[in-house]
Amino acid sequence: MKVKIHTLFQYLLETTDAAPEAIVGFSLSGSPKLGDYLEDLDPDQSLDWNNRDFRGLPELRDHVLAQAGLAGVCTSADVLITAGAAEANYLAIMQLLQPEDEIIIETPGWPQADVLAKAIGAKITRITRQESKGWKLPIDQIANAVNDRTKMIFLTNPNNPTGDLLSADEVSELVSIADRVGAWLLIDEVYAGLEWDGPRAPSVAGLYHRGITTGSVSKALGLQGLRTGWMICPDPQMIMDAVILRENSSEIMNIMGEVIAEIALRPDRYAAAMDKARREGRQNLTRMNAWVDGQPQLTWVPPRAGLIGLARLPDGIDSDDFARHLLADPYRTFLLPGSAYDQPNHIRLGVGGGAAVNLSDGLARLSQALADWG
Ligand SMILES: Cc1ncc(COP(=O)(O)O)c(C=O)c1O
Repeated sequence: MKVKIHTLFQYLLETTDAAPEAIVGFSLSGSPKLGDYLEDLDPDQSLDWNNRDFRGLPELRDHVLAQAGLAGVCTSADVLITAGAAEANYLAIMQLLQPEDEIIIETPGWPQADVLAKAIGAKITRITRQESKGWKLPIDQIANAVNDRTKMIFLTNPNNPTGDLLSADEVSELVSIADRVGAWLLIDEVYAGLEWDGPRAPSVAGLYHRGITTGSVSKALGLQGLRTGWMICPDPQMIMDAVILRENSSEIMNIMGEVIAEIALRPDRYAAAMDKARREGRQNLTRMNAWVDGQPQLTWVPPRAGLIGLARLPDGIDSDDFARHLLADPYRTFLLPGSAYDQPNHIRLGVGGGAAVNLSDGLARLSQALADWG
């Protein structure tokens, strides 16, 4: 099994040294500094592993359940702390999917499941979210696609990259569809808590015995570099299988990731950080919507949740060419081309990143690049 590179990562690799002066489309909240946590850190904290539980610090696992609204529904034994949601997705997919199994994924969507399923030799069924339908997930098509060989349905809610949001009823409907054929339903909710239009959907781990919820402190809290996330699943064997695979890759969590994430998810800290993330995200989104309205060449379906969405370029502009043009002089502005999501006629816009990304400047340069194009 060889894991092949995806277009999204290829673009990030190729542009890492570009030193842009502005970023449009930043996908996480502005990141806190280490100093923000110093007063709660213990200088005597051992830098050995946590020495208490292979699933992760017990207090941290309790906070994870609380933020997901699962306290009293799932137990901390159902939570595994991982190196980001990315590792949680990886462990679940690699342990559950065998060659020839079928997996249902959404497009556009987060590419990880597609890349891993191909490496495993699983059969992939793609369910297409249509822009003309507001990027809504066509659940009826998932119902038609499942069969006895369907091992997993992999979705993001809120969706990366469109910002669409499933409702509680839709999550229940998906549970019924998965249950009908005994499939695992993995819903990655890294953007949960940043809903602008509708309530946060319930986490599937609390609804279904084969439900897997993955998430992390990376997005709303901006703590991506901690590499701390989780898998929640009421099936003890799934959690144990994930622990076993992890033992053979990174073995255990890094202790500073666990310790700082535990502080960040303490209820008072978490509430304040989420208030800030929501306030800033909403403000930037209002600005972004007004900006897109003023661009004769762009249209978009505003994200209903999360920090990113896709904007449509005029026909004939290839997103890859345009993104590279925008990154060069005189614009020096980074954005992710829609080709990273199989949407070559779109660009990814986003409202995260705080002051560091120079969003206003980036939008002005983007307007100019569009006006100058061709
Ligand atoms: C939907 C989705 N899942 C997982 C990840 C990986 O996040 P983490 O930093 O938690 O590993 C991302 C990051 O962009 C994402 O958008």
